[in-house]
Amino acid sequence: MTVPSKPLVIAIDGPSGSGKSSVSRAVAQRLDLAYLDTGAMYRALTWWCVQKGIDLEDQPCVTQAAKDLPLVMDTDPGFPSVQVGGVPIDEAIRSSVISESVSKVAINLGVRDELCRRQRALIADSIQAAGGVVAEGRDVTTVVAPDAPVRILLSASQEARLGRRAKELHGGDGHAAVKATHDQIVRRDKDDSTVSQFMHPAPGVTLVDTSDLDFQQSVQAVLDVVRTQRVHQQQ
Ligand code: DC
Repeated sequence: MTVPSKPLVIAIDGPSGSGKSSVSRAVAQRLDLAYLDTGAMYRALTWWCVQKGIDLEDQPCVTQAAKDLPLVMDTDPGFPSVQVGGVPIDEAIRSSVISESVSKVAINLGVRDELCRRQRALIADSIQAAGGVVAEGRDVTTVVAPDAPVRILLSASQEARLGRRAKELHGGDGHAAVKATHDQIVRRDKDDSTVSQFMHPAPGVTLVDTSDLDFQQSVQAVLDVVRTQRVHQQQ
């Protein structure tokens, strides 16, 4: 496809298991843009609080930790990485302990303010360094970058999302695997939905439903939206 002219910010939100991280990263690679996984920042803060023994329910204390967090996000889509205090924590933040507790941190409004401020700064840096960024999460289209020229909500039916995450976590999408995955998808999205709106597209946000699409088709569907919107904007 023709590469859209830069600078370009592509904001992508979606629920768990919609495929937004892998699809966003692939789109960033195809368009030679930076890639920002905002969920990894909530996970990094959760990891740090757990390391320091901070009670995740103590909102003022967790908000202060968000302000102090020595976080470095590498936004290279080929090798995205997360470091806290010089320690790479890419694997640690995907552990079930973090996945099960991150919503307690994400529903803290003081934390959201601080991480949103950092995410906007990272987007500005990425425009300087790479000509643009694909930034993904739950509130990027609505709060972090509501003026992004391309805004997409990537979704899929609950059944498809549960099946995908069950395969990732348990190697299959049989009944037991899907049941074991329920907390990671349904409960987490319910908690997270109390502070961000990511189950339905906000006005001006394009819905891409990947329920019946495989990975390559999902990437292509997003690239098609980017191309169409950029053509309209340049007319
Ligand atoms: O996408 P993920 O599972 O890595 O996200 C981790 C958590 O952070 C999840 O509970 C949702 C939350 N999150 C958020 O509230 N806002 C964002 N922009 C990104 C993630």
